[in-house]
Amino acid sequence: MATADEIIAARGELTREQLIPLLQEIQEAEGFVSQAAMSRLAEALRTPVSRVYGVATFYNQFRFAPLGEHVIQVCRGTACHVKESLALAQHLKRRLKLRDDGSSADGRFTIISVACLGACSIAPVIKLDGEFYGHLTVERLDALLDEVEAGAEAAA
Ligand code: FES
Repeated sequence: MATADEIIAARGELTREQLIPLLQEIQEAEGFVSQAAMSRLAEALRTPVSRVYGVATFYNQFRFAPLGEHVIQVCRGTACHVKESLALAQHLKRRLKLRDDGSSADGRFTIISVACLGACSIAPVIKLDGEFYGHLTVERLDALLDEVEAGAEAAA
């Protein structure tokens, strides 16, 4: 997987219109957009870092901290919302002691809220490390997290 430096260098001469696609590519490669990557982008685009930062923070698709070992996407779409997805999100927040950046206190889990996971028929749904889990309840979510944590302990 390419680093931010490699992504920027591979583009050659940059124009300001490439800022958002570059931010997206960097996040795809590194999991987040670091301060260093924003500085490097600003330099390559010959624009102030504050402009890069301003654009990146305007869109809520960008993250500014590394992802945890496990990524949980929680759907907040309409179908999930009517099936109590908010209770799942609040439970995750409490159980994992989420920080403001969406990661757990121990940094192992990152929670990302998404508009729709495209699996409305099994609402409420989450995606954990790329796998869909539907018809979730707080109890089933707890069992799932217990399994993930037990797996991590067994591997340690
Ligand atoms: S609304 Fe949740 S998967 Fe579509």
